[in-house]
Amino acid sequence: MTHAPNHARMTPDPTAGLEGVVAATTRLSDVDGDGGILILRGKRIEELAGKVPFETAAAHLWQDFDLGTEDEIRKGFAQARRAAFGLVPLLESAPSSLSVYERMQIGLAVLPVADTLHPAIAISGALPVFLAASHRISQGLAAIAPDSTLGCARDLLRMLTGRDPEDSHTAALDRYLVTILDHGLNASTFTARVIGSTRASLKQAVLGAMGALAGPLHGGAPGPVLDMIDAIGQPENAESWIADALARKERLMGFGHRIYRTRDPRADVLKEGLRILGQSDPKVLLAEDIEQAALAALRKAKPDRPLETNVEFYTAVLLDAVGIDRTLFTPLFATGRTPGWCAHVLEQQETGKLIRPASRYVGPKPEKM
Ligand code: ACO
Repeated sequence: MTHAPNHARMTPDPTAGLEGVVAATTRLSDVDGDGGILILRGKRIEELAGKVPFETAAAHLWQDFDLGTEDEIRKGFAQARRAAFGLVPLLESAPSSLSVYERMQIGLAVLPVADTLHPAIAISGALPVFLAASHRISQGLAAIAPDSTLGCARDLLRMLTGRDPEDSHTAALDRYLVTILDHGLNASTFTARVIGSTRASLKQAVLGAMGALAGPLHGGAPGPVLDMIDAIGQPENAESWIADALARKERLMGFGHRIYRTRDPRADVLKEGLRILGQSDPKVLLAEDIEQAALAALRKAKPDRPLETNVEFYTAVLLDAVGIDRTLFTPLFATGRTPGWCAHVLEQQETGKLIRPASRYVGPKPEKM
């Protein structure tokens, strides 16, 4: 028995997906889909990613919300990591069948919101600890305590591996986390704003946003991107593998975007990160060949619909080059996006307005009205 929706039975609906509908006014980020430009609070993504650490970029995004100076926010992230580590025994006692992502959601659900730290900082600082601890628990290893003297990206890598990470790996992870910090009214951010508009807590909004992010059409794509690269295996297999996938009406993970009609600028920011890492790894070279083959095949298959490389393609390749397990790609995406979700909730709550759109009823009418 299948539980998949029966698309054939559904009436074509021009409102499906709310494409082109403006549902919020924001100062936080702007996605220019025709120009391929992403602006975060007045700065192009290229001015932030690879230039400033994750905490500084979060402080940049949060500057209207009175959460403290950049230095206070950086110290707040470290304080939040220490506080979150106290919850590790609870994570350890959760069922072993849980994924890293689900264990992170448990950590977030039980995170106490203290008076001393703004919840946006407490939540954003806690998730790297929940991620690293959950991964180690899933491997049967002991969780590693955070080190408050380190930046978030370095500490996250150290808590994952138990080793002092290479500077280049720390820089690549910082670049990734900043690249995905915020991105207009994507599905998870919209979810966060809807939840925040009911005046539910920031924690509830982030939990809901994590749910929305998990699907393969949003934040769940980079793991399957790596699976695709592995399945193709050799550059000479790319063309036929991709043609077969498209003939089966499958979607190529890491390509296409609702807003971008040109290349996603974040793909290039991450590709630049790979160049800086100095990777001559055969997998990176294979990925570049696959990208070209996929773009050519998509142009042929969908000549009227520009389908370009999106952020998830080079997310997969960059994080893999840093040595991060593919099961952690979506958890890392949530970790990097959390300050963005928090900012959107705070901004939405400034309006005091509940988000409650209308729907058009097309079901049967009662016999007696
Ligand atoms: N591979 C093959 N065909 C595609 C792809 C793709 N990656 N993306 C879109 N198409 C096709 C669709 O099948 C559809 O064809 P049809 O009109 O013949 O049915 C057409 O292009 C339009 O697709 P929609 O789903 O209507 O476009 P939408 O803008 O809603 O989709 C999305 C955007 C969901 C990202 C889509 O491009 C996709 O599924 N990509 C693959 C998954 C992926 O990479 N997800 C990560 C997105 S980035 C992020 O969220 C951070």
